[in-house]
Amino acid sequence: MEEMYVEWSRQARSAIEKPVPVRFNRGIRSVIVAGMGGSGIVGDVLSTLSSNYSSLPVITVKNHILPGFASREDLLLVVSYSGNTVETLRVFDSALERNIPMVAVSSGGLLKTRAYEHGIPYIQLPEGLAPRASLPSMLYGVLKLLYENNLLNIPFKIVEESVDFLEEKTGEAMAEAGLIAEWVHRSKGLLVISTHSPLESLGLRGKNEFNENAKIPVKVDVAPEWMHNDIVGYEEPFFKDFTVLEVVDPGDRVGVMLVDFMRTIYGRVTKSFHRLVLEGGSLLDKILYGSMVFGLSSCKLARMRGINPLKTASIQEYKKAAGAIFSA
Ligand code: F6R
Repeated sequence: MEEMYVEWSRQARSAIEKPVPVRFNRGIRSVIVAGMGGSGIVGDVLSTLSSNYSSLPVITVKNHILPGFASREDLLLVVSYSGNTVETLRVFDSALERNIPMVAVSSGGLLKTRAYEHGIPYIQLPEGLAPRASLPSMLYGVLKLLYENNLLNIPFKIVEESVDFLEEKTGEAMAEAGLIAEWVHRSKGLLVISTHSPLESLGLRGKNEFNENAKIPVKVDVAPEWMHNDIVGYEEPFFKDFTVLEVVDPGDRVGVMLVDFMRTIYGRVTKSFHRLVLEGGSLLDKILYGSMVFGLSSCKLARMRGINPLKTASIQEYKKAAGAIFSA
């Protein structure tokens, strides 16, 4: 599985080299991204980027319900790596009924079949990857689509440079991942990812990667919102076995100071800390670097525990039951 992460720059490069499937000759009010898990994270990252670069508002839908406000002025991106995720397919079907402009993104499955049947523009992803490990093909495919349709304020140079950056930094990400995996394995407490805005999507990505690859529960704490609720939970916790992975953007002075402050509070219950300082020039670089470190470190942790990082048995168990649940 690790090799899928090591190949990320190649994935990203081939995604931005592909022609886009559609050109919209009109304005769009907002972009809605529907998807679950490793596919849904594309919407979170896109939303972070669009706030940072003042592009269109991006709304993420990580369930089976197309928001009531979705209209023909919006663009719905339906992302499912497998193309068979029931929640995502339901959003697709609702959007068809309501005539919402869409683009579907998958490596195949029912989403591909339905998109072709209904003439919905479609982005083909490479086959044979784990959804979570195909983040670059999904994200860069969507970035290119938005850019070519004048819906993205991010200079395309930043997108292209991030691909070179990923290639250069793969070795460094692997080394950092090894340190994190060894440290988490030694500490064994509840892993807490402690970060600051606007890195919410990266914190979430880290959680998902450690959940799915290393098979452990994880908590994500994001400052400054953390200071207004979670902070109090560390006053009288039932247990004190926390392992705190701090994730900071060194170019964000306020962010670093907020995470420094968080440490003073966690310090009352744990002494187990590790800091991941994000590399890169742009926010896109930093999110991808952090995501690669999380992917690789969670795989390494799985190996140390004698676990197969690729298998997600309980997700498959849920997916078998989901058809019946949603058609009840
Ligand atoms: C990630 C992963 C899951 C899936 C999720 C949705 O590797 O396995 O988080 O992404 O179950 O499935 P897809 O992405 O196929 O729509």
